[in-house]
Amino acid sequence: MSESKEMQKGELAPTEWIWNEDENPPFHRTQYAPMLVKHFDCLFADGETGRVFVPLCGKTLDMIFLADKGLEVVGLEFSEIGVEGFFKDNNLTYKKMDVVNQPLVQYKCNEKNITIYRGDMFNLNPDVCGQFDGIWDRGSYVAINIPTQQKYADIILQLMKPEAKILMETFTYDTSRYGGPPHCITLENLQSTFGSKCEIKVVDTMTMLAHPVFNAGDMIMTLPYCLLSMK
Ligand SMILES: C[S@@+](CC[C@H](N)C(=O)[O-])C[C@H]1O[C@@H](n2cnc3c(N)ncnc32)[C@H](O)[C@@H]1O
Repeated sequence: MSESKEMQKGELAPTEWIWNEDENPPFHRTQYAPMLVKHFDCLFADGETGRVFVPLCGKTLDMIFLADKGLEVVGLEFSEIGVEGFFKDNNLTYKKMDVVNQPLVQYKCNEKNITIYRGDMFNLNPDVCGQFDGIWDRGSYVAINIPTQQKYADIILQLMKPEAKILMETFTYDTSRYGGPPHCITLENLQSTFGSKCEIKVVDTMTMLAHPVFNAGDMIMTLPYCLLSMK
């Protein structure tokens, strides 16, 4: 556990995210994220090359979408089942090696321009993975425990090149009915964690019924998709 204090309600240590070998976790999607496909051009012009980071990537297929756009894709995920499941599910092979002097393992895909680091996000820094032109954040910032959001934002900001942008899926909902994760993220929250370095705007929204695992009955969640651009 990267955080020394005891976990509070609504908080999960990296080891507490449930990953089983034989079934997909509830957050995993078997298609590309529609809002990434729709708003990809907020991050990169079509045909543009560059480096894109997918924090807390799980085994998202979005990494395939981004690599097939001609980008160099770097993911980071704590779960070994998640990382190795990504390659297995997609019939991809990899070379695996420890990162020198860091508690991270690098998986470099042989067939596509995708590298995934396995380990705790809080151990990542630009000396390990360099900086990025774009970041696709689905289920990442919202998964971070509230007391560590600023620490997470500071790491992400260090990983961004001067002109970089983040496209981020956020959630807003009635917090008296559910306490996260995914955490409820208001624009004020984003302003306080990223606002000193980034302009923030909402580019789209969608709504969905809360997943049954949240035990929130028929609660509707609103998902604002935010674009954070380095000032
Ligand atoms: C909500 S899931 C999102 C996964 C992925 N982005 C997707 O769209 O399917 C959050 C992921 O973060 C991982 N995770 C949680 N805390 C982490 C940490 N501190 N470092 C690395 N991964 C972490 C979990 O194992 C889980 O796979």
